[in-house]
Amino acid sequence: MSSTSIDSLLHESRRFPPSDEFTAGAVAKADLYARAEADRLGFWADQARDLLHWHKPFTQTLDWTQAPFAKWFADGALNVAYNCLDRHVLAGHGDRVALHWEGEPGDSRTLTYAELTTEVKRAANLLASLGIGQGDRVAIYLPVIPEAVIAMLAVARLGAVHSVVFGGFSSESLRARIDDAQARLVITADGGWRKGKVFPLKAAVDGALASDGPTSVEHVLVVRRGENEVAWTEGRDLWWHEEIAPMDLEHEAKAFEAENPLFILYTSGTTGKPKGILHTSGGYLTHVAFTHKNVFDLHPETDVYWCTADVGWITGHSYVVYGPLANGATQVLYEGTPDTPHPGRWWELIEKYKVSVFYTAPTAIRSFMKAGRQIPQKFDLSSLRLLGSVGEPINPEAWIWYRDIIGGGHTPVVDTWWQTETGGIMISALPGITTLKPGSAQVPLPGISVDVLTDDGQSVPNGSGGLLVVTEPWPGMLRGIWGDPERFIETYWEKFDTGEGAERRRMYFAGDGARKDEDGDLWLLGRVDDVMNVSGHRLSTAEIESALVSHPYVAEAAVVGASDETTGQAVVAFVIVKASQAEVATADEASAILRAHVAEQIGAIARPRQVFVVNELPKTRSGKIMRRLLRDVAEGRELGDTTTLTDTSVMQIITEKLK
Ligand code: WTA
Repeated sequence: MSSTSIDSLLHESRRFPPSDEFTAGAVAKADLYARAEADRLGFWADQARDLLHWHKPFTQTLDWTQAPFAKWFADGALNVAYNCLDRHVLAGHGDRVALHWEGEPGDSRTLTYAELTTEVKRAANLLASLGIGQGDRVAIYLPVIPEAVIAMLAVARLGAVHSVVFGGFSSESLRARIDDAQARLVITADGGWRKGKVFPLKAAVDGALASDGPTSVEHVLVVRRGENEVAWTEGRDLWWHEEIAPMDLEHEAKAFEAENPLFILYTSGTTGKPKGILHTSGGYLTHVAFTHKNVFDLHPETDVYWCTADVGWITGHSYVVYGPLANGATQVLYEGTPDTPHPGRWWELIEKYKVSVFYTAPTAIRSFMKAGRQIPQKFDLSSLRLLGSVGEPINPEAWIWYRDIIGGGHTPVVDTWWQTETGGIMISALPGITTLKPGSAQVPLPGISVDVLTDDGQSVPNGSGGLLVVTEPWPGMLRGIWGDPERFIETYWEKFDTGEGAERRRMYFAGDGARKDEDGDLWLLGRVDDVMNVSGHRLSTAEIESALVSHPYVAEAAVVGASDETTGQAVVAFVIVKASQAEVATADEASAILRAHVAEQIGAIARPRQVFVVNELPKTRSGKIMRRLLRDVAEGRELGDTTTLTDTSVMQIITEKLK
């Protein structure tokens, strides 16, 4: 981030104290901070006991003896699905709506807690009949339909492990994830609705399983949704609706130990291969239930909550599935895109379901800002009382627009910082307590300890920036990278590891830059590594570069994230075309072909905004591509320091060429 953007953040002086009315009714009480401060582990143990049902109570809170591999509540046992379903029904809330689902074409389906519980029981029986049990991995590749939630909970109910792969990912990406986790079963759909069309999912699964030799997959369960034609492999492929029909409506939820793996979710790292982030049961569920309840001020009897994330991302896991359902919330689930069939679709749904708490990403907010306030203003949004933001820094102007235009000028807006790795929200204001500052994620939640450090590990004073770290273990923390303990330690724990023996102190390095303002509040400054954040989704430059060089045209490629008004960052690629291919296509044609190629290899989300064909790439003497300079070019800035380049004329040539 350039120094000017840091300045403009610090000039932000608007403040929004909570209203007395909000504070009086708020779930979070100010004493949470003092309680957590006085006894951090005791505080988390209380949350685990208050918010969850334990089949076998725990006596141990944190075991950090094998650091950085944590165990939380290790001698306790619970069933995650039981906590999200059965216990609400047993408590007399079976008639409460769990999901108001809306399909993109306008079809809808409502599931109460009793109905959702029965569906999950039947699905658990179905999965068990296919041989799925504790520890088995199941890949889920579905649109946002109720079956996505049902499938995740059915896997959890059996003590098995799900790996949800976002439906926008290509067959290659799906295959890599299936292989890495050695999934025995894939749950998919014929197709899903997106932008007015059915996109084929089953075909992508077929493609994934057809390539590159034998797979771990025994069965493919196919939900009927798109009603599109699908190919069928007898013996392997099964229709969900046919298989589930005869299943028993009863299924007893067995208890599993708190550290039983719950899911793997793949996320981009700095090297090409995605990392399988592993989360387990008791600590994760405690963290997401606590944060969902307090950050979103959840009143389960009266609130209608809507988080717009796809279940394929961590936000969908923690704040569509596990947090809200553990808390017995009523929520909206929407299959499609915000602008189909008309640009006011989201606002129409808020009006229709009287949504009171709404959680979305800055990218979406900025694209609505661009389209104009007259669109949301056509709808009655007066049911909204709290708004949340996640995925990337929200700039103060977008924050104010969100509060004024969507929130009617009165709702609190909470900016929540967290990651796939953290499992749940770490830094956020608490509504009713915190005086809000537009653009700042503000303060760590009670029970969470963070700091901002210099590169050599010194805590920076207020008014300075550095690297964001989490200084103490927390319940929702990742327990490792699937199959790669070395990479887990290297990526997150080696940078800040000091002292020896009893004095040894390891801190979690998040990969984000942050700044403390004069009050000590935190302002997130984006990634410090080569990971881009496009529309709130993490993509690695390395992955896109390898997709580009896999094309026969390309000799070398460098990818950078350039700031983009709408998506936060956009993918910009620089490629050197092989001499033998130079005659085959013009630069414009090559660029179009390569953009499509990346979309096909990784998914549309990774499609470069621009592909520039260049003759050379700027490199240091050790051969490292200087992405910083390419970013300057992509953003149309003056070039920074070029003295470490092997050949300083390269940048001049590139810049000339792009004029
Ligand atoms: C960024 C998404 C600023 C950050 C939950 C982080 C944010 C990455 C915020 C994680 C925020 C997320 N303000 N930046 N409120 N929330 N980020 O794993 O760079 O998809 O490291 O998890 O998103 O992305 P992930």
